[in-house]
Amino acid sequence: MAKILMVASEATPFIKTGGLADVAGSLPAALKERGEDVAVVLPRYREARIDGARRVAENIAVWLGQAKYSVDVQLAVERGVPYYFIDCPALYDREGIYVNGDGDFPDNHIRFAVLAKAAFGIIRYVYRPDILHCHDWQASLAPVYLKTALAGDPTFMGIRTVLTIHNLGYQGIFPPAMLPQIGLDTGVFTIGGLEFFGNLNLLKGGIVYSDAITTVSKGYACEIQTEEYGFGLDGLLRDRSTALTGILNGVDYSLWNPETDNYIAAHYSVDDLSGKSACKLDLLRKFGLPDEAAERPLIGIVSRFAGQKGFDLIEEIASDLASEDVTIVALGTGEMRYEDLFRRLAASHPGKIAVRIAYDNPLAHKIEAGADMFLMPSLYEPCGLNQIYSLRYGTVPVVRATGGLDDTIDEGTGFKFKEYSGAALLATLRDALAAWQNRERWKELMRNGMRKDFSWNASAGEYAALYHRLLG
Ligand code: ADP
Ligand code: GLC
Repeated sequence: MAKILMVASEATPFIKTGGLADVAGSLPAALKERGEDVAVVLPRYREARIDGARRVAENIAVWLGQAKYSVDVQLAVERGVPYYFIDCPALYDREGIYVNGDGDFPDNHIRFAVLAKAAFGIIRYVYRPDILHCHDWQASLAPVYLKTALAGDPTFMGIRTVLTIHNLGYQGIFPPAMLPQIGLDTGVFTIGGLEFFGNLNLLKGGIVYSDAITTVSKGYACEIQTEEYGFGLDGLLRDRSTALTGILNGVDYSLWNPETDNYIAAHYSVDDLSGKSACKLDLLRKFGLPDEAAERPLIGIVSRFAGQKGFDLIEEIASDLASEDVTIVALGTGEMRYEDLFRRLAASHPGKIAVRIAYDNPLAHKIEAGADMFLMPSLYEPCGLNQIYSLRYGTVPVVRATGGLDDTIDEGTGFKFKEYSGAALLATLRDALAAWQNRERWKELMRNGMRKDFSWNASAGEYAALYHRLLG
C-alpha cells in the first residue's frame, strides 16, 4: 500500500468546471478500492459544496517568501477519501474559481502558490504521503517547492512526485516580476527551470521538477512531444520522455449510466434500448423543440466553449449542416465568441439548432441520454470524457481523431475524421447521418459502444503501478 496525497484545483462533487473535476473526484476512490491510501487537497472556494465538513487544523502559516498566509483546513470525506480544503478567505472566498467577468484573477499565481505550499502544511501536521500527485499548472509549484525551498527539510524527505497534465493549453504563465510573490528566488528562473520566453511558467516548473509525468491518454502523451501539440513545451517533454507516460482517464459509471441515472426521463440498457426514445423526447422538449424532431437524427454537444473544442469547424459548415435533415442541441459556456456563435446559429436555424448557454449538470445527462450522436470535433483533446459517457448511453460519438478521442473511439463504436477542416467534419457527419437511416446498423453501433468498459479499474491500476515503481 502506498500513501498518496493529490493536489488539485477542482473535484466532484464539490466544485467543477471540467473533466479535471471528474478525475480528481473519482480516481482517488478507485485507488482506495485497490487498497491504496489516498487523500486530496483542494482550495475552499466560496462555491465549493462542503456542507458537513469539519475543521481539522487552524492558523497554519503558509509562507511565500516574506509574505505569510494563515490558513485553516476543513475535512470532508467522500467515498472514504479525505478531501482537505485549504480555507483562506482572502484568496478563495470570492465569486468564480479561476476567472470572473473581467478575466483571470490577477492574483491566481498567489492563490495556487498558496494551495501548493499549504499541501506541505497538510503533510507536516495532518497526512504524510509517500507520493505527492499534482494535477495541472495550479498544483505544479508543489514539486518545485519540494525540490528547492523545502529540499533540506527532513519532514519531506523521500516523498516522490507525480505531475498529471490534463491540458497543455493551460500553463499558468505570469510576468517574471511575480517570482518573489510566489516565494521563489531567481535561481529557478532559468531555461532549465521556470523561465519560458521571458515569463514564468508554472506548469513547466512541474514538468522539470516532478519525478514522473503523466498525461490522460497514450495518444496525447505522444502528441505533446510534437511541435503541433506541444504549446512550446514539446522540446522539454521530449527531453523528459522517459519520465512521461499516458494513462487514459477512467469514468465513473456510478454517475454516468443510463440504467441508474436519475436525471434522465427513462432508464435503458444494452439489452433493452426502449427507454432511450423517451429520453429523446424529453430532451427535445427541454430545448423547446417540436416533438416531430424525434423522427430526425439528433446531435448533442456538451462542452466548455473554448478554442480547443473545434467549434470553428461547426461555424464553417453550419449552413450545409442545417440543410440536412437533422436537429442539433448544444449546452455550454465559456468564451464569448463561441457563446455568440451558438446563439447566432440557433437564431438563424430555429427549430433545428437550439442552444443553452449554461453550466447545467442534469441537462448534460439528458443530452447524453437523449441524443443519437454526440459531436466533439476538437482541435486537440487530452482525453475527453463526454465521448466515453456517450458510448455508455448508446449515443454514437462523432469525433476528430486526436488525443483521447482517437484512443477511445473506433469504427465499431463511432465516426472520426483526421484532417482539421470543415470539409472533413461535414463528410463524416454525412456518413453518420446516412448510417442512422439503417436502423439495424445503428443499433449495432450503439450496442458496441454500450458494451465498452472504461471504468477506472485498468487506469487506477496503471497509476498504482507507477507509484509503486517510483517507491522502488
Ligand atoms: P474538458 O475537461 O476539456 O472540459 P472533458 O470532456 O474531459 O473536457 O470533461 C468535461 C466535463 O465537464 C464533463 O463531465 C462534461 O459533462 C462537463 N461539462 C462541460 N461543460 C458543461 C456544461 N456546460 N454543463 C454541464 N456539464 C458540463
Ligand atoms: C482536460 C482535458 C480533457 C480531459 C480532462 C480530464 O480538461 O481538456 O480532455 O478529459 O482534462 O483529464
